[in-house]
Amino acid sequence: MAKDAILDEFKKTAQTTDVVFDKKVKVGIIGTGWIAEAHMQQYLDMPDVEVVAGADVVPGKAKAFFEKFGLENVRCYESHTELLEAENDLDAVSICTYNSTHAECAIAALEHGVHVLLEKPMCVTTEEAIEIMKAEKKSGKILSIGFQPRLDPNMIKVRDIVQSGILGDIYYIQTGGGRRHGIPTPFGTSFIEKDTGVIGAMGDIGCYSLDMVLNAIGYPKPLTVSGYTSNFFGKDPHYFEIDGKPAEYADLFGVEDFAAGFVRLEGGIILDFRIAWAMHLDTSGDTIIMGKKGSLRIPSTECWNGSIGGPMTIYSEVAGSQIETKIPMVTDNSKGNFYKKIRAFVVAVATGGKAPVPTSQILYNQAIIDGIVKSAKIGKEIEIEIPEI
Ligand SMILES: NC(=O)c1ccc[n+]([C@@H]2O[C@H](COP(=O)([O-])OP(=O)(O)OC[C@H]3O[C@@H](n4cnc5c(N)ncnc54)[C@H](O)[C@@H]3O)[C@@H](O)[C@H]2O)c1
Repeated sequence: MAKDAILDEFKKTAQTTDVVFDKKVKVGIIGTGWIAEAHMQQYLDMPDVEVVAGADVVPGKAKAFFEKFGLENVRCYESHTELLEAENDLDAVSICTYNSTHAECAIAALEHGVHVLLEKPMCVTTEEAIEIMKAEKKSGKILSIGFQPRLDPNMIKVRDIVQSGILGDIYYIQTGGGRRHGIPTPFGTSFIEKDTGVIGAMGDIGCYSLDMVLNAIGYPKPLTVSGYTSNFFGKDPHYFEIDGKPAEYADLFGVEDFAAGFVRLEGGIILDFRIAWAMHLDTSGDTIIMGKKGSLRIPSTECWNGSIGGPMTIYSEVAGSQIETKIPMVTDNSKGNFYKKIRAFVVAVATGGKAPVPTSQILYNQAIIDGIVKSAKIGKEIEIEIPEI
């Protein structure tokens, strides 16, 4: 199926929020931490979904999680393997574990013949992404990656503007952004430790910026990357002290809090990317998409929330005059992006549809992140090699 057709289907299914299926979709939740709560809240809002099982490697955590939602009868396990081996009537799982276990949990679920909604980032290396995709292909099951900003109407507008052709051929993109003071340690250190997070700001928020622009231009293949990573804030005990967090978090900090990459994409497009969890700066710049007929400015985004910073502007030239066209913000009174992401997946499962956010696209997102890590390590540009799957 062509990329455009997949995306059109995604938009349609995501909006199918009022259909209630006769047969309930039976779901398990693997990893019952912070983001699992958001999955659970959406599933509870769907009369045609039943959450029947859950697992967490911390003993008792899954049981306490479901009790908090008033659910006493959900079957609880202490690992994803225990859950998948014991449950033989599951339709789907939400995988909400920390980054380092995304690949093993997704592969195991696919091998057990279960559809998968996998939280972002897809995983932590290109090699893992390829193993996941092999398991997906063998299983014939749906595997969708949890990029909810795609469903925001203003994000859809970014893609629609680029796809309309008004900018002409795209040749240069700048994207990224980040937070001035925002290393995430909400309920512990799973985002910042090497063993659990593996990648830091890129896996947490950079992957969203990349998705915003790559999705808009049809996800061309990345060819080469020159990357840089640093951790000046995360390794500073004072940073955590002023947050009222233990200074020892600095000793545990094992990922990047800033990354930058200069990427060559198929079709002669340059992608200039940077992302920060912390910086001495309010923003590292707007997202800009430059084309031969016009350019689009997206005010410094918080695209990880599915939001843009204000009305976008198209710069172009008409009959020799330089003009600027403001694109009004779209307001959306429907349910939030997170609901739409989960609902799009449920609809795909219930109707035998396609993955709303397919791995064939997110593989390239992952390959750029992995390329930045690998290039930064050796201090020079590298080629991105992606084998056929
Ligand atoms: N889409 C979003 O908006 C969004 C927001 C926050 C986090 N996330 C993503 O969600 C993932 C989880 O983040 P979090 O903040 O919930 O982390 P967390 O540390 O709060 O929760 C992860 C849970 O997974 C459990 N776990 C790990 N491996 C397991 C396994 N093999 N089997 C069962 N349980 C296992 C851990 O014990 C922990 O309780 C991350 O990859 C993160 O990037 C997405």
